[in-house]
Amino acid sequence: MYPIWEVPNLSAGIILALIAAFHILPSHLSTSAMWFNVYVETKAYRENRPELLEFIRKYSLLLLVFSYVLGSLSGIGIWYSATVANPRGISGLIHNYVWGWATEWVFFIIEVTGIFIYYYTLGKVDRKTHLKIGWIFAIGSWTTMVIIVGILAFMLSPGKWPETGNFFDGFFNQTYWSQLLMRTTLMFGIAAAYAIAVATRIKDADVRSFITKTASRWGIAGLILGCVLFLWYLKTLPDANRMLITALAPQGLKTGIIVSLGLLVLYFIYANVKPLTIRLFPAILAIAVLFGGIWSTERIREMIRKPYIIPQYMYSNQIIGKDVIAKGVSAEAKIINEKGLLKVAPFVPDGLREINEGNQVQAGKMIALIECSSCHVLDEKGLRAMPQMIRRLEFKPHAEAAEEVAEIEGFIDALGGYPYMPPFVGTSAEKRALATYLHSISRIK
Ligand code: HEC
Repeated sequence: MYPIWEVPNLSAGIILALIAAFHILPSHLSTSAMWFNVYVETKAYRENRPELLEFIRKYSLLLLVFSYVLGSLSGIGIWYSATVANPRGISGLIHNYVWGWATEWVFFIIEVTGIFIYYYTLGKVDRKTHLKIGWIFAIGSWTTMVIIVGILAFMLSPGKWPETGNFFDGFFNQTYWSQLLMRTTLMFGIAAAYAIAVATRIKDADVRSFITKTASRWGIAGLILGCVLFLWYLKTLPDANRMLITALAPQGLKTGIIVSLGLLVLYFIYANVKPLTIRLFPAILAIAVLFGGIWSTERIREMIRKPYIIPQYMYSNQIIGKDVIAKGVSAEAKIINEKGLLKVAPFVPDGLREINEGNQVQAGKMIALIECSSCHVLDEKGLRAMPQMIRRLEFKPHAEAAEEVAEIEGFIDALGGYPYMPPFVGTSAEKRALATYLHSISRIK
């Protein structure tokens, strides 16, 4: 166990989610944009339209700066924030997928150097060589997605891994192909939105019109195919996760997906019909709408993984919930129930290891920080704010404080019965301390 990263009102998870959702724009732009580039470049050479190269220059500069400066920074931001938000989760992933990441980074180096070579050699090497560089980049970049989707999908549906502990059993799990194909098609929606934004900066009306029309067709095709694959992806989800879409995902996020999809399709159709009327501001707005859709989909994907950070292995609060015999990992409930959470967790202030009359509330807060704060902020307002959650429990009218604490204890006993919450682990004194603390913050009286 590691120290807890407590972010008031927001939670560490939301900070990570913001960085990770933003990262989708540069990373998916990187995997998709070069396919569009090589298409346009081939056309420029075949049909002898050198003026199209102006677009390629601008679009690859955008790719270089946006994907390889902001994308790299946010990629590292994911690592940093995930490492402090859920160090054990990251550790568990690294122990299984370090060679996956190592392989990805080989292709990543191809991308990072490739984009500089592609951009700076345009017009300076012969056409065939330049196109080849483009192809190498496009395939290399997409390969990073082929690899990373395996690890992403593993975090949602680890397949047979919990029984076998095998790298590929976890990697090619039941949501792998649907997620890979869905992301592969949707990424062209992102490439198209950015291409249209770049086209607004081009003076030559023919080039602008050609790029906007072509990109909008790629965008419509990507979104519609992506939509069909999204439905397939929903089908491939394990039942427990699919059930949580109904039980947990807020209507706002579901509406967010549909509205952003609808608006984008309309935008692309309009761009196709009236390409020259699109200005920079609406083009950027379209990217913001795109981000709204990404945020909604990714938030739902995160929600339906509850109560786990890695299903059938580790809970969101970093407590190992299940034996993974193949990996020599044992569930921790038994030992924590016997010895006490405050005894076994290393980062507990000394005064809180033993619970007594004087430190009950503080000890309870420590337990809530460790066991609950990955999903609930303990502040009055914010992400699934704990005081509000406790107020949802129905207490008997005119109950004494002690009766209410006892009722909260009963609720804590039943936590494992919720499909999205891990069971409580700890001694009965710790349960009482947690209940006393929860009662104190809920200010029921
Ligand atoms: C893996 C994530 C997760 C963890 C860990 C977690 N919860 Fe929850 N909890 C949820 C979700 C999700 C909800 C449903 C929120 C909603 O309905 O908006 C919830 C709801 C609740 C509710 C309201 C129950 C109801 O019937 O409406 C209470 C009370 C609660 N949690 C207490 C706790 C306590 C105490 C802990 C720590 C011992 C804890 N939770 C740990 C995810 C979690």
